[in-house]
Amino acid sequence: MEGVGVTSLLVALARAAESRRPDRLFVDPYAAEFAAAVPEVREPPMEEGARRSALADYLAVRTRFFDDSLVEAACAGCGQIVQLGAGLDTRGFRLNWPAGTRLFEIDQPEVLTFKDSVLRRCAAQPRCERRTVPADLDSDWITPLRDAGFDPDQPTGWAAEGILYYLSPETNDRVMRTVADAAAMGSRLVVEHVTRHVTRSETMSRVRADLASRAAEWRSFVDEPMTWLRWYGWHVRLFTPNELLAASGRRLLAENGGPPNGWLAVCER
Ligand SMILES: C[S@@+](CC[C@H](N)C(=O)[O-])C[C@H]1O[C@@H](n2cnc3c(N)ncnc32)[C@H](O)[C@@H]1O
Repeated sequence: MEGVGVTSLLVALARAAESRRPDRLFVDPYAAEFAAAVPEVREPPMEEGARRSALADYLAVRTRFFDDSLVEAACAGCGQIVQLGAGLDTRGFRLNWPAGTRLFEIDQPEVLTFKDSVLRRCAAQPRCERRTVPADLDSDWITPLRDAGFDPDQPTGWAAEGILYYLSPETNDRVMRTVADAAAMGSRLVVEHVTRHVTRSETMSRVRADLASRAAEWRSFVDEPMTWLRWYGWHVRLFTPNELLAASGRRLLAENGGPPNGWLAVCER
């Protein structure tokens, strides 16, 4: 795996570490298998001590936030879940989905091929009707999604976790427009992004430089999430990373008293 696809392995490394903690927020038994399959991929250099732990903690609370919000969406009537840039996430195998839930995973072909090869070796059994959709979010992804069985007339839970900042601002807007056009009444969108304030964080600058050296630079920021998401027709509940970290009793990200470095949202229509 090369380029931005490698970032899916970095998230898997963090999920494997979280799964080993006695106070873990989730168990992802496949994360360690993905990491073991490509042992040469290592985590970006994060500072030792408090800051390193806070970033690892953030990936854990983010995972749990998406887990809970997507299962809630499914229980509220979203019979389809679409993960944009699904990477090595294993929600289709880990979570208790209502009967009949269809889960679509969109990502680059090489990421999905690697993922399925490891899952097959583990004899992993999906707990929903899972369909993979190899597609590029920079181009037409809605046609392959529809070809895979997605029905735009049915309410859908959409997930954009750890993906939008790897896309250009123009692609962010195109993706959001496409999602809005394909989201029937009753749909939900669970989404995460960063703000420009993240560029002031020393730790994050180092992480971003490491990602850029792996051809996975962060290319976009959204500083006004409420305005942005409402523009696409969503009712928005916003959260900051530190609100979620505090609620889980984990270490906070250092923001030096400034505005938050990022945001998460659960949107409804
Ligand atoms: C940081 S990972 C996050 C994966 C997953 N959402 C998670 O949290 O485990 C980002 C993923 O986005 C995918 N990605 C990035 N740009 C993409 C694009 N233009 N089209 C499809 N997938 C893309 C990468 O291949 C990678 O798997």
